[in-house]
Amino acid sequence: MTETETPFDKDRAKAFTSKMLGIMNDGALSLMMSIGHKTGLFDSMEGEGPATSAEVAAKANLDERYVREWLHAMTCGNVIDYDSENETFQLPAEHSGLLTRKAGPLNLTVPMQQISLLAEVEDDLVGVFREGGGLPYDKFPRFQALMSESSERRFRSGLVNQVVPLLEMNDALSAGIDVADVGCGSGLASLLLGRAFPNSRFVGFDMSKDGITHASEAAADLDNVSYELADAGALNQPERFDLVTTFDAIHDQARPKDALSGIFAMLRPGGTYLCVEPKASSLLEENMKDPMAPFMYTISTMHCMTVSLAYGGDGLGTAWGHQLATEYLTDAGFADIQIEGIRDDRGNNYFISKKP
Ligand SMILES: C[S@@+](CC[C@H](N)C(=O)[O-])C[C@H]1O[C@@H](n2cnc3c(N)ncnc32)[C@H](O)[C@@H]1O
Repeated sequence: MTETETPFDKDRAKAFTSKMLGIMNDGALSLMMSIGHKTGLFDSMEGEGPATSAEVAAKANLDERYVREWLHAMTCGNVIDYDSENETFQLPAEHSGLLTRKAGPLNLTVPMQQISLLAEVEDDLVGVFREGGGLPYDKFPRFQALMSESSERRFRSGLVNQVVPLLEMNDALSAGIDVADVGCGSGLASLLLGRAFPNSRFVGFDMSKDGITHASEAAADLDNVSYELADAGALNQPERFDLVTTFDAIHDQARPKDALSGIFAMLRPGGTYLCVEPKASSLLEENMKDPMAPFMYTISTMHCMTVSLAYGGDGLGTAWGHQLATEYLTDAGFADIQIEGIRDDRGNNYFISKKP
């Protein structure tokens, strides 16, 4: 690297000082908001009038001293309103739409929990920055539970009502077809589709024992839904399925190319592949315009990329982007690749392609 002679811009330095302080405050608040979600504090305050810390704590069945300190952090972070005369707190309606379980897919405290999940591996990650390699899934014991909570909101609101119409497969699924979900995690996609389309058969594949165990238990009452422990990079299920789906499950694979070839082979001729992957460009300069890009690259470094590298994989990263994804799909043999989206999942691209 060479030294630059760019003149020092004092205003820029001043603006960056404010930004740094904002990052520190917001980073700290993100942990408190995650606690607000886990303890049910936001839900408990929703729609309620002004209340003292003792009243808030009693309603949420929590310890008053902790709740009071949390309320102070939320007040100073302009999340909760404070009336100093009466020493009461209130969650404004304009904020609760992004903070409570009632808000469904709009509840940002659910993805917020990823920050504390990633913080757990910070020290290990410093190690792989030095040595290379990656951190395997078992370094993230809370991952499947959190992923399942995040996916649940969009699967429940979007899968049957928005994704199926997008695929134009309502009639086929009603008549009865074979469907696979690769990298199914806790298996909710197959479970919801299995309930909605009892004449079709659904199989979820994942290499996570936790995911498959949880999925199998949840779908125990459904004859048309099953789950198998399998490495997506070594699937050998030739022409067994009419529809294969992957939801956020290609970019963090160790061997994404093998997974895509395996999926191509799994499909019967004319079969459909729905590949859902984070909405991003393969070009950094295009992602700079995305307000969620810093979050995406952080998740990538601290989870998606590192789990792939842990198994000697490609380490594509969360933001591998639609250009590279299209290239990978084409190389695997897919044709007529369309990139679509759905209303309740703004963060993902829906690649729909056919096996010729
Ligand atoms: C980001 S999660 C998505 C889970 C689920 N599709 C969802 O949307 O909730 C990625 C999933 O891919 C699985 N996975 C990663 N590599 C895999 C492999 N080689 N074989 C099978 N599953 C794999 C992980 O265990 C994890 O459940």
